[in-house]
Amino acid sequence: MKIWWDGNININMELKIKNGKVYQKNRFVAADIGIEKGRITKLKKNLPRDSDEVINAKGKYIIPGIIDAHVHLRDLEQSYKETFVTGAKAAAHGGISTVLCMPNTLPPATTFNVIKKLNERKKDACVNIELFGGVENNFSEILRFGDFVRGYKIYMDTKSFSRNSLNESFNFFRENYENKKLKLVKPIAVHAEDGELIEKFGRENKICEIEAIKFVSGLAGKSGFPVHVCHISTPEGAETVKKSDLTCEVTPHHLFLSKGDYEYDNVNPPLRTKHDRLKLWENLNKIDIIASDHAPHTLEEKEQGASGFPGLETMLPLMLDSVNKGRLTIRRLIEMMCERPAEIFNLKNKGKIEIGFDADLTIVDMKRQVKLLGDNFCGKQKWTPFEGWKVKGIPTDTVVGGKVVMGDGEVV
Ligand code: NCD
Ligand code: ZN
Repeated sequence: MKIWWDGNININMELKIKNGKVYQKNRFVAADIGIEKGRITKLKKNLPRDSDEVINAKGKYIIPGIIDAHVHLRDLEQSYKETFVTGAKAAAHGGISTVLCMPNTLPPATTFNVIKKLNERKKDACVNIELFGGVENNFSEILRFGDFVRGYKIYMDTKSFSRNSLNESFNFFRENYENKKLKLVKPIAVHAEDGELIEKFGRENKICEIEAIKFVSGLAGKSGFPVHVCHISTPEGAETVKKSDLTCEVTPHHLFLSKGDYEYDNVNPPLRTKHDRLKLWENLNKIDIIASDHAPHTLEEKEQGASGFPGLETMLPLMLDSVNKGRLTIRRLIEMMCERPAEIFNLKNKGKIEIGFDADLTIVDMKRQVKLLGDNFCGKQKWTPFEGWKVKGIPTDTVVGGKVVMGDGEVV
């Protein structure tokens, strides 16, 4: 079958990355990396400098390309907020080589036609973009687009689409896989806040998330598909996931910001108390991955209460800074931002630096200190709740399929 929507960057150029410390099999080794036709073909010391392009990574660490499993790149009728092109540049600038794009676009990515349009948009983007299809009483459309998305996304945070609808959707996936109308098992990502409880108690009440995650974990086996919980914000949520078959993610804003830390702090799920936030850090070993939930709104929209923050360009620096501060090891960072996302979302040949794997790489300078400033962003939205934060440790180069999309801090 011809896959016309495959937007993976296809470059034949040769590249060598020399003199860096390369993360291989759980440790850093001094090695050069040879890249041909978008793949890693050599990993050894003292490779000759005979390729089209050579990066000198002396004093730096080379880690697998970062995979951000939760972003909103908008485009279409919301191109004023972000497009696939600008969002991809933001990703490159943030050291991210692959993003999983969520379906709350306008018009929503819940139909075959919109999925097809979005697939075409990937062509001009400088990082890998994988699409998630939306699930909301659109079963005949899912059967049409099912083969062409990386996974599915279910929002259960409205009264009209909550527990019952989730249950029905899981039944739909099981039945249609069994009768072969859906050919592949794919991850289902769930926005786990209970729409009925939100109506009753208000979104700020932690019970909305905690009960939603419990409900999802009770149903998880039912779909026959792996189920992933997006952006958990409560330590109780992390504990429930750990005891279940689910996987889950946490965002930097839930790790670094407590309620009220930022003037326009509205986000779903909400920011929590400092106590809960610090407990989330203590529970980091129960959480599978870190994802940004990049939600580019204009500042005017934020002033009017829009929920979410741009996150692509601050996620990795904040996490590298945390490595420098001893809050997690670089090994755990790579597990949470490269290896596990590749496994959970079935991204073949990604997440590791090995011969034959895609040449998606992030070069980091653990000693460099910068101030996070919205003005320096490559995305369309030039603001961040982390404005002015000083961090130590930043990505300097992003390589996607053997192509340098950020070189020495500059997006090309
Ligand atoms: C997201 C957005 O703006 O797309 N907002 C948010 O507060 N997280 C939507 C979402 O992920 O729920
Ligand atoms: Zn989201």
